[in-house]
Amino acid sequence: MRIAMIGSGYVGLVSGACFSDFGHTVVCVDLDEAKIKALEAGVMPIYEPGLEQLVERNVRDGRLSFSTDLKASVAGVDAVFIAVGTPSRRGDGHADLSYVFAAAAEVARAATGPLVVVDKSTVPVGTGDEVERIVREARPDLQIDVVSNPEFLREGAAIEDFKRPDRVVLGVESERAQEVMAAIYRPLSLNGLPMVFVARRTAELIKYAANAFLAVKITFINEIADLCEATGANVQDVARGIGLDKRIGSKFLHAGPGYGGSCFPKDTLALVKTGHDFEAPVRIVETVVSINDQRKRAMGRKIIAACGGSVRGKTIALLGLTFKPNTDDMRDAPSLAIVQALLDAGASVRGYDPEGMAQAKALMPTIDYAGNAYDCVKGAHAVALVTEWDEFRALDLGRVKELLAEPILVDLRNVYPVAEAERYGLRYVSIGRPV
Ligand code: UDX
Repeated sequence: MRIAMIGSGYVGLVSGACFSDFGHTVVCVDLDEAKIKALEAGVMPIYEPGLEQLVERNVRDGRLSFSTDLKASVAGVDAVFIAVGTPSRRGDGHADLSYVFAAAAEVARAATGPLVVVDKSTVPVGTGDEVERIVREARPDLQIDVVSNPEFLREGAAIEDFKRPDRVVLGVESERAQEVMAAIYRPLSLNGLPMVFVARRTAELIKYAANAFLAVKITFINEIADLCEATGANVQDVARGIGLDKRIGSKFLHAGPGYGGSCFPKDTLALVKTGHDFEAPVRIVETVVSINDQRKRAMGRKIIAACGGSVRGKTIALLGLTFKPNTDDMRDAPSLAIVQALLDAGASVRGYDPEGMAQAKALMPTIDYAGNAYDCVKGAHAVALVTEWDEFRALDLGRVKELLAEPILVDLRNVYPVAEAERYGLRYVSIGRPV
């Protein structure tokens, strides 16, 4: 198959590179000339394990290329994927679809024959209908089918997730579209992976329902963690005890500082808006959104409480700033709310992150930064482990204790066994576990 990918951001680039690795011929298109030049030179605009090698191999073998020229890239292809951004619109929280619609219109104008246009961006229910209206209006002379194919990639594991997904969801409204999509994903279906062919609106909703369900699951265990703290129970044991029930499942039951990232906060908010628009409110998700927002700020208060109730004039070290490990992404990271709460309470903050320093500095220019975990901790009155990067999983806790001005470790990811941290003489505070 010949494929054009419109938008070479996270989803577009990973999907494009993986499709080319399946053996398809793919051109990844982006308006950003600097980005396309960099990609042509083998420089990745994002940090994602394995991506660089994947891109290099497929470029070398002639299956993958990059371009800023949408018109030329769309000519003669079988399918065009739209993977442009859908940020939350300022003010009302609705997903901003202007980039999707603009791309659809431009693609239709550039089409040279029958085409399948695939929405890969996460878009509200009904967007596919609007895209169809736009492409039909632009090109009444051509058969252009519109498909919804939401992605379920996790940052940091995106390539693995793309190549070995639990399922592929495909919202199609015609047999031809179904045939083209089946051909594109044949390498996966041959391996026995389920292809879930459904109506287009259903596919659009599946994506939001999946992310919202996971956000509910995380928020549920976070509240149970608070209850554990109040009652002296252990949330990790509760998670294991309920997770072994196959109906519940053990994944996404790690209590922590609240979910962040580019997807859950945005998608839960968008689902809430859709519920209101259609007068079918998804109240459980509304509640989850507000609990999660409050939780991030509450983590700042948790650190302050661990410091005896005041951090005025003290230095707090934060290990890990990105919303999760193995990414440089700071979007809606809990660290942002935590830093603000600490600064508001009169503390100085020093941060360190293995990959997210550049983005963190741009978003939080007023705090200090250290070049490694131990320099970050040195002289601080407490250290908070905010993101569970591997390099923070085996810290020399004896050294950490010696470097700290006060031996306080607030572990917001429950990385260490309580007894181990205490053995080193640290005052150890974690999430939902008895001291
Ligand atoms: C998520 C979805 O998993 C993916 O399917 C979707 O396509 C995009 O959004 P991602 O945002 O990359 O992926 O990260 P994920 O690993 O799902 O984590 C999201 C947030 O939840 C992070 O802040 C993480 O720390 C938090 N989380 C996750 C928990 O607090 N506890 C958990 O048990 C799992």
